[in-house]
Amino acid sequence: MNSFSYRNGVLHAEDASLESVAEKYGTPCYVYSRAALVSAFRAYSDAFSPRDHLVCYAVKANSNIAILNLFARMGSGFDIVSIGEMERVLKAGGDPARIVFSGVGKREDEMRAALSAGILCFNVESEGELERLDLVAKNMGKRASISFRVNPNVDAKTHPYISTGLRQNKFGIPYDDALRLYRKANAMENLAILGIDCHIGSQLTEIPPFVEALEKILLLVDELEKEGIALSHIDVGGGLGIRYREERPPEIADYAKALLEKLQGRPQKILLEPGRFLVGNAGILLTRLEYLKHGEEKHFAIVDCAMNDLMRPALYDAYHEIIPVKQNGGKGELCEIVGPVCETGDFLGHDRNLAARQGDLLAICSAGAYGMSMSSNYNSRPRAAEVLVDGASLHLVRERETISQLMAAEKLVP
Ligand code: LLP
Repeated sequence: MNSFSYRNGVLHAEDASLESVAEKYGTPCYVYSRAALVSAFRAYSDAFSPRDHLVCYAVKANSNIAILNLFARMGSGFDIVSIGEMERVLKAGGDPARIVFSGVGKREDEMRAALSAGILCFNVESEGELERLDLVAKNMGKRASISFRVNPNVDAKTHPYISTGLRQNKFGIPYDDALRLYRKANAMENLAILGIDCHIGSQLTEIPPFVEALEKILLLVDELEKEGIALSHIDVGGGLGIRYREERPPEIADYAKALLEKLQGRPQKILLEPGRFLVGNAGILLTRLEYLKHGEEKHFAIVDCAMNDLMRPALYDAYHEIIPVKQNGGKGELCEIVGPVCETGDFLGHDRNLAARQGDLLAICSAGAYGMSMSSNYNSRPRAAEVLVDGASLHLVRERETISQLMAAEKLVP
């Protein structure tokens, strides 16, 4: 199902024209489709339905509370990496007992807050963290449930900035240290071992690295069992990629089948931490073409969104399709599609064929994941509005930031 499609030459999100969204809420504006969010979640969860499983949506991909709330209503758990994310989940009605807490740098106050809230488990990423958590739990008179995030040293074959499962990456505990650390954790009074997890990277478009990582994790599970350390869950991390351009990511059913085959006969519950897959293609960034500028070497289409709104092109050289909201049938020309920010790295797309005039609306596709959540106020640009479309109804799920909000916490010196 594609929730963004042309009707009579005008791009719609479900039954709402993007022209009507821009008219009502202005640009730049993130626009999400409820139907696309719901169907992506169902597809992921259904693919694993032969087994007891819990989808823990990776909040970092898009942390708008309306989206978290939709997933919570479908029974989702959540993968968080900060207490800010936990507070969002709780505000959105998420169940704390379905939260896993990942991240290499958990502070003490974050551990305390997560323990008080009663999260499912901490995905522990270092020996130092293990010791700190034991102490924090002791001081609170609690027992913290843990899983170790193991770094399996598997090449995810993705962009180096979002590859996390290699020996040289900062993530997880070294594979060869895992048994020792499980034994150590097992002897700690204030900890309870619950599971094991790994996450080798994001935007993976092939199945074999997932399987390779899981095989290595299962070897550890077997070793632990021999030592009498039984785990109740195996968390396979996030990472099934989506189509931005001509990638051919596997079908979710094939991905699930490959993992479930490996997990056959094992009693553990399966945890999954998808982010991008659930939201990436459920959102676009709506922007207006301010100027067409003809340089000596290149044509520039200057739009009203920028790298502060969507950082992925500048940061990873990521490709997002950019299409006109109104098809005009005109002959296009090759343009650099750029924003107003004062950096040459501020581009949304290179060498795009664009048939558009000044004032036209454009949609930057596949912007639902790591778009708004990575946005900033660089160049003192207020962050975009976010609108969730449900059929023909528009819901403003985040107001456009105001300039006074940008300065609200700042003070002059005497
Ligand atoms: N679990 C953990 C521990 C993670 O670190 C991540 C993503 C996920 C799950 C979700 O992965 P996903 O299903 O979304 O692939 N900003 C980058 C992506 C960074 C991903 C970081 N970790 C981008 O825009 O491509």
